[in-house]
Amino acid sequence: MRTIKDQALQQKFNELERKNKESLLGGGDKRIEQQHNKGKLTARERVMLLMDEGSFEELGKFVMHRSKDFGLDKEYYLGDGVVTGYGTINGRLVYVFSQDFTVFGGSLSETHAEKIVKIMDLAMQNGAPLIGLNDSGGARIQEGVVSLGGYADIFYRNTLASGVIPQISAIMGPCAGGAVYSPAITDFIFMVENTSFMFVTGPNVVKTVTHENVTAEELGGATAHSTKSGVTHFACANEVECITQIKKILGYIPQNCEDEAPLLNYIPGNEQRLALNDIIPANPNQPYDMREVIQGVVDTDSFFEVHKNFAENIVVGFARIAGRSIGIVGNQPASLAGVLDIDSSVKGARFVRFCDCFNIPLLVFEDVPGFLPGTDQEWNAIITNGAKLLYAFSEATVPRVTVITRKAYGGAYDVMNSKHIGADLNYAWPTAEIAVMGAKGAAEIIFKKEISEAQDPGAKLDEKVEEYTRKFANPYRAAHRGYIDEVIYPDQTREKLIRAFSMLENKVAKLPKKKHGNIPL
Ligand code: HXC
Repeated sequence: MRTIKDQALQQKFNELERKNKESLLGGGDKRIEQQHNKGKLTARERVMLLMDEGSFEELGKFVMHRSKDFGLDKEYYLGDGVVTGYGTINGRLVYVFSQDFTVFGGSLSETHAEKIVKIMDLAMQNGAPLIGLNDSGGARIQEGVVSLGGYADIFYRNTLASGVIPQISAIMGPCAGGAVYSPAITDFIFMVENTSFMFVTGPNVVKTVTHENVTAEELGGATAHSTKSGVTHFACANEVECITQIKKILGYIPQNCEDEAPLLNYIPGNEQRLALNDIIPANPNQPYDMREVIQGVVDTDSFFEVHKNFAENIVVGFARIAGRSIGIVGNQPASLAGVLDIDSSVKGARFVRFCDCFNIPLLVFEDVPGFLPGTDQEWNAIITNGAKLLYAFSEATVPRVTVITRKAYGGAYDVMNSKHIGADLNYAWPTAEIAVMGAKGAAEIIFKKEISEAQDPGAKLDEKVEEYTRKFANPYRAAHRGYIDEVIYPDQTREKLIRAFSMLENKVAKLPKKKHGNIPL
């Protein structure tokens, strides 16, 4: 029990602490009941669920706001609407802030911001992940510019910390205005279905400005952001699942950019995976699920998919191979034939850059018929956006391995972690087709005259398609040149990759000296 000489002040603190405890732990305060009735936990309950039992050390719990305007001189809460501190998750140090919607809607005051800034600085200085549990109406409206300044202080630190420590944001309530820009700069965003929203301006403002009638859920709910905008990487069924997923993702990533991800014990055994031989359909135009390939190659149940519902024509996520954490990027023939478009390029690029920041080796599974044609793609800048993926792979210095399972056509062959842009090893299955384009399209262009002048143009086309396929729709031309290091059977893939990543574990690759590159944004 703390003692304060001034008895009146002591009494005030006791009263405030009691109120604070009640408000955060649900001791009868009606606003807490409201929070629970909405299917939400309180700020402190979330922290307790997230951290190892007994490990959380709270900082700044007696901080109070300094505002006097609009009646704030009569309303104070210890902690000022945010719980901040440090502790461990599975024994590893993390820093956390958790906003309390029951205090001024979790809005960000000058002092609320100062508390967050303090733990951000500690996280950076001590090289440990920062986790933000966001539940906030944005800048505290009564405070004016000081709350805007507080946000800018946070955004600035989010940016400086990017690539230095992992930053994870969970959205656990309505987050508006400034409350969405800090998460946007962080590495991964988790949202909770039905109880969390993200928008720069809410439905009322939207209605006034654009005359659109839209609900909060439609505008910025977990479904909208996990499928349409791609703002969130994960949509979780409830808060408990959200917190469980955050703990899980941390298991794949290191504490900071100079650290390595945790390596799990692995006892080598029979690494042959016969089931992989049956995944690629006999007909090269028939789809299959690249997740089956991924799951067949990596350690059992280790695949942790990221951005699952957005741009489904590319699959990204973490996995383990012989206990080692790796990042996976795979074209997905089961969606849009695995074509690369704007959204999939950006999704892939962002993930590649995260892995490269944090020393996580990259494994690419390639089956891509090229870039998606059309005015929609061209006018929305597939050139610039496709270049992001090319740039991200080219710049990555972590160990990089590719397995071409089927199509590697056109520019997409170059982009998808080819050896020409710095990949360490490229393998191809015997079903691989490495060519400028599909055989039919190619034959139609290069034998156009011959086909049109033939007595039977259809038969001539078939003959030329067959000729082109024989020549190029295989991995051997590329292997003759050394662009493919080895043609392997699917069932050998896991063993080859275990050896490859082990061989590459001490890889050192340096980029030319520069301030920073200029990725085509
Ligand atoms: C002060 C706020 C507040 C805010 C909510 N509250 N937002 N207090 N500043 N920004 C208070 C409410 O007055 C209310 O207090 C309590 O929190 C709960 O809010 P409700 O509106 O009753 O809750 P709900 O219906 O769930 O709606 C949540 C909400 C809505 C969608 C977040 O409150 C809202 O639209 N708030 C304003 C959002 C906004 O425009 N923020 C400023 C953005 S500008 P009582 O006492 O009644 O319980 C910004 C600038 C930074 O952030 C930009 C940087 C780039």
